[in-house]
Amino acid sequence: MRSIVGGNWKMNTDLAGAVRLAAEIVAGCVSRLRHCDVVIYPPFPYLKAVGDVLGDGGVRLGAQDVFHQPDGAFTGEVSCAMLLDLHVRGVLVGHSERRLVIGEDDDLVNAKALAAVAAGLQVVLCVGETLEQREAGRTEEVTLGQVRAGLRGVPAAALQRLVIAYEPVWAIGTGRTARPRDAALVHRLIRGAMADLYDGGTAGAVRVQYGGSVKAANAADLFAEDEINGALVGGASLDSGQFVAIVHAAADAAARKQRKG
Ligand code: PGA
Repeated sequence: MRSIVGGNWKMNTDLAGAVRLAAEIVAGCVSRLRHCDVVIYPPFPYLKAVGDVLGDGGVRLGAQDVFHQPDGAFTGEVSCAMLLDLHVRGVLVGHSERRLVIGEDDDLVNAKALAAVAAGLQVVLCVGETLEQREAGRTEEVTLGQVRAGLRGVPAAALQRLVIAYEPVWAIGTGRTARPRDAALVHRLIRGAMADLYDGGTAGAVRVQYGGSVKAANAADLFAEDEINGALVGGASLDSGQFVAIVHAAADAAARKQRKG
């Protein structure tokens, strides 16, 4: 299974910095694209400029969000068709910052996932528990609830365009990373829930990324777990050296797992 590493730039960079960062990432990752998909998610205003840098070079352009309606009176929102016009290939849906800061609920996340897969975009459905929920022993209930709600009505045939990002909220931007074994356990639960929703073969083919303070220094340990198929990287994706090192670790782990069979 190929790894997938995403760089979620959030509300960071400026135009010149975004173009520069994209060029550095392309140069650093090109040798590893055989074993690892790389997607970068710049802020909306920089999609065109970053897309021009990426061209057809293999590093893919993604968007941090999308709105589910095709067009109309939705001030400030961006449709799937608009993203496709800019050669965007994938979107993040249900990132915890959108759930917790902006107030998106499971129904909206599900509507966005349905619209985006129908449009042919790759969807990274982000799920994960808060610290309070983890401490209350609710990690499984919350995370799997978000998976089930997010995937409601998504046909099995669309799952090849779907990735799950398990991002425990307490690990995002905090410098605290889940222990690889703990993350792998939740990844296994996610796959089990997907096997119940679809079937084992379909669920087994879906990649599950880990997200939450992934850095060059902890990436290899995370990717050594069979259940961890890559990472969604926030802070460290703004540093091309860090991000490229994470991509290399993910590609090397995928190659190793492939050899192992
Ligand atoms: P972080 O963010 O790597 O800065 O923790 C991850 C994310 O929000 O996707």
